Amino acid sequence: MTGRPDADDGYDPLGLAADNPIGGSTAAGPAPPTGPGAAGQPGPAAGGRPGAAGERPAPRIRLASPVTGDEEVEAVRAVLESGFLTNGPATRRFERAMADRHDTEHGVAFANGTVALQAMYLACGIGPGDEVIVPSFTFISTATSVLHVGATPVFADIDPETFNLDPTDVARKLTSRTRAVVPVHYGGQAADMEELLALAADAGVDVLEDAAEAHGASYRGRPVGSWGRAGMFSFTPTKNVTTGEGGIVTTDDGDLAERLRMLRNHGMSALYRHDVLGYNWRLSDVHAAIGAVQVGRLDDIVARKRRNAEHLGRRLVDTGPLVPPVVRADRDHTFMLYTVRCPAGRRDAVRAALEAAGIEARLYFPPAHHQPVFAGSPAELPVTEEIARTVVSLPFHSKLTTDELDEIAAVASMAASD
Ligand SMILES: Cc1ncc(COP(=O)(O)O)c(C=O)c1O
Repeated sequence: MTGRPDADDGYDPLGLAADNPIGGSTAAGPAPPTGPGAAGQPGPAAGGRPGAAGERPAPRIRLASPVTGDEEVEAVRAVLESGFLTNGPATRRFERAMADRHDTEHGVAFANGTVALQAMYLACGIGPGDEVIVPSFTFISTATSVLHVGATPVFADIDPETFNLDPTDVARKLTSRTRAVVPVHYGGQAADMEELLALAADAGVDVLEDAAEAHGASYRGRPVGSWGRAGMFSFTPTKNVTTGEGGIVTTDDGDLAERLRMLRNHGMSALYRHDVLGYNWRLSDVHAAIGAVQVGRLDDIVARKRRNAEHLGRRLVDTGPLVPPVVRADRDHTFMLYTVRCPAGRRDAVRAALEAAGIEARLYFPPAHHQPVFAGSPAELPVTEEIARTVVSLPFHSKLTTDELDEIAAVASMAASD
């Protein structure tokens, strides 16, 4: 395809559909914008697609900017030279690194986070007739993966400050058909795990963590991904660490890990012995090799983001009236997202001002229950509705400079105050 597709064909200049930040850069820093497509010049559209004349230039300050460098290049080269390209030693290394970082016995890698969620539900025996409680304020696949295994997602409301599942509403949504509660650790801050685990234990159901956005986050000193029966992490390029595409399920349950490995690889228990209905959900070793290096970068990236979050938070409070992310005292936020609340009626103006200034901003996430795919699924979610009307996520990758953070704060605050 050449030129810019029509707006209604699914083309997504922000990369929302693939959760994909546009353009790349290296650990040494972003590639300088030169030539066609640089800020202020017509050229390739965001996403690296060919641009049509008069198209808006790519933003100057991107939402995300993966940190990759020579180590990833070397790791990929080593895989290619080894001839072992899938489900091999690099996958084992990546799995071990993630499991160790999140204090679990096992990590099972998948081609992406969405199939990892499906595998997690299937391995726990969830299927037709079962209900799974999920937030609506999340990326769509937290809920669609429940549909993929034939079960029914039931939406629960969120806490107005952290945007994580509200245990009180979860309690209201439990029924005799509920099989699992799936907290999403929104933007890198853990959900109320002890309250949710207590509710689930009383009801005799599983807690399965959607930790897609929360690599390295912890709750009361213990990493996410180790609280529930299992936890899922995604590695798309907006995440704090990435493999391009990829997912992992962490768990302490050895039988569950074994079922996950079988589901991932055609239900095989031995070569060409297929015990259960399985899939090809394997991660290639090329991606896994990148992942093993990325896990080693995680703590530095998060430390830098925490420093930047303090700086940006101070600036926003000084300039008002935006409300920076609320971080609960008993958990570590990893700031995959930096989502602010705007005064009533100002959010769209804030987005427009940022966009006009060349600063990418996005609604993470339009509620799942508003999507046509969930039409006919009634849901009373007043807090979700209110939050979805008032929040916007600001660029918050780990390479942002103090000047860029100050500019983001100034533009957003001014537009919010007008
Ligand atoms: C909360 C959440 N769940 C699930 C996913 C799906 O992961 P993937 O895009 O790797 O399929 C994502 C993000 O991408 C996410 O943010």
